[in-house]
Amino acid sequence: MFKKVLEYAGEYKKYTFLAMFFLVAGLIFNVVQFFAVYKMIDNALSGEGELISYLTWIAVFLACGLLYMILYIYGLIQSHYSAYHTLKNLRVSLQGKLEKLPLGVIEELGVGPLKKVFIDDIDNMELLLAHALPEGFSNVCVPIIVMVAMFFVDWKLALLSLASLPLGVIAMMAMYKAGTGKMGDYYAAARKMNETIVEYINGMEVVKIFGRDGESYKRFSTDVMGYRDYTLAWYKMCWPWMALYGSFLPCVALFTLPVGGYFVYSGASAFSDFLLILCMAFSVGPTVMKAMSYMSVLPQLKYKIETLENILSAAPLMQGTNEFKGKDKSIRFENVTFSYNGETDVIKNVSLDIDANSITAFVGESGSGKSTLAKLLVHFYDISSGSIKIGGQDITDMTLESLNDQISFVSQEQFLFNMSILENIRIGKPEASREEVIEAAKKAQCGDFLLRLENGIDSIAGDSGKMLSGGERQRIALARAILKNAPIIVLDEATAFMDPENEEKMNRAIAELIGDKTVIVIAHRLYSIKNADNIVVMDKGQIKDCGNHEKLLKSCPKYKELWELSVGAKDWHVTSGDNKVAVKEVSA
Ligand SMILES: Nc1ncnc2c1ncn2[C@@H]1O[C@H](COP(=O)(O)OP(=O)(O)OP(=O)(O)O)[C@@H](O)[C@H]1O
Ligand SMILES: [Mg+2]
Repeated sequence: MFKKVLEYAGEYKKYTFLAMFFLVAGLIFNVVQFFAVYKMIDNALSGEGELISYLTWIAVFLACGLLYMILYIYGLIQSHYSAYHTLKNLRVSLQGKLEKLPLGVIEELGVGPLKKVFIDDIDNMELLLAHALPEGFSNVCVPIIVMVAMFFVDWKLALLSLASLPLGVIAMMAMYKAGTGKMGDYYAAARKMNETIVEYINGMEVVKIFGRDGESYKRFSTDVMGYRDYTLAWYKMCWPWMALYGSFLPCVALFTLPVGGYFVYSGASAFSDFLLILCMAFSVGPTVMKAMSYMSVLPQLKYKIETLENILSAAPLMQGTNEFKGKDKSIRFENVTFSYNGETDVIKNVSLDIDANSITAFVGESGSGKSTLAKLLVHFYDISSGSIKIGGQDITDMTLESLNDQISFVSQEQFLFNMSILENIRIGKPEASREEVIEAAKKAQCGDFLLRLENGIDSIAGDSGKMLSGGERQRIALARAILKNAPIIVLDEATAFMDPENEEKMNRAIAELIGDKTVIVIAHRLYSIKNADNIVVMDKGQIKDCGNHEKLLKSCPKYKELWELSVGAKDWHVTSGDNKVAVKEVSA
């Protein structure tokens, strides 16, 4: 565990080592303080002490106290310097790792547990690097030095000082064994609580609309109580052992005082040696106690490092190191099969050729696999079998960056960061000037609503873009794609939230965007894709048929059905009559 955490510290581990050195030096001065106390008592009891000698030892005591303080503070500054740089490095490398993981792995981990790893668990490394490691080391190392020194003073008394150690070590090992065994359940309860809290907050809207606060709150409180119960059960199991080793280990004078007293009485040991050994024993008592305080958190830290390691070592997406070197922007799906959960295939043996600079539409019922196929092209997930190629080059052969450079993906779910709309659009092309961003926003028909906002394009999009309507978010996402200007464009229901007037404008913007690009459009409103070069009809993860509109109307009953439903839906109106509100189809 310590090795692992030092690995994380990388170049900063030298500061942890420096901290260890200063803390050991500081503690040695602390021990010397006890030696000074011994000298003063010894002088007083023997009656031989002169004033100058007392004053000298008082000065030594004070000087050592000061040095101990300075070295301790300086040591902790070094250890915290190392710790906080390591926390930063860990968070950055975890973020880098998440970018390379298949989305499925991230979804499986869940927002709550990931937040816990990113914030709470990584924060705990501070305890390891800044305290447990340097302070633990110095608080173990110095007592060992002192105990060795005791043997030179009087081996019998030294052995008595060590006599309480085995009892403490046995109790400590029992605690460690019991604590580690239950750690899995304890963290499972913490993870569940985290997930429920995040879900509860995210789902507040649904909870309110459907009046499910009672039910939701019940799950919330059950999981919070579950965590409380597990934590208490864990401590209940560990506390007796903690209390035992906490009493035995630091109590180095437990046997020295009564038995040593007898040795002095019987003449087996000298009184001054007895006094010195007692002072030395008292000097290491608090240090041993401090070292022990870190022992109780080690099982927790070990578990947290394992969780972190599991994420850091999860298999990343298959990706090559090559740049994009495809011969053109044509796309080829070859016998592609894919499953989200490793059990049910959502895409089944799909083969499809998409010509460069053509417009291809994916249509099909909800859940037929249209979005999934698009997400496989942008390599959100690795496929189970088959291959996906752009211009003849497999997408797993190129880096994610060069694949991303080739594709603009406007997904069904729009996510906006909590920063200005300008910065949100600029994600499409980070080096774009303000003018370029504004131009893209205008092309994506954002002009109207940006004018309404107090700070225009500099308005903050709000938490996850929730301050904007669905249609407004879609237009911002489209502006990103326009700005990115990649040669392949994937539009997944890009106009789904638009009212007819804006949809018309958006379609014009899209027409301008697609120019001579390879385009994949996913749409439920089939009239908007009827002029596509190739229409792919998806059904239950397979391609039912493909061709142009006229051909499919004749050859594919499924397409005909979808077309009729879609055209019908276009003309649906809500009418009211006889005090009833009805949805009725107006002539198609
Ligand atoms: N992240 C996911 N994890 C597990 N299953 C998923 C996930 N996303 C989609 N699915 C499942 O995969 C299937 C295909 O989903 P997909 O989103 O591709 O359908 P779609 O054709 O785009 O539907 P829609 O028209 O409603 O957007 C569905 O059965 C869906 O339940
Ligand atoms: Mg979809």
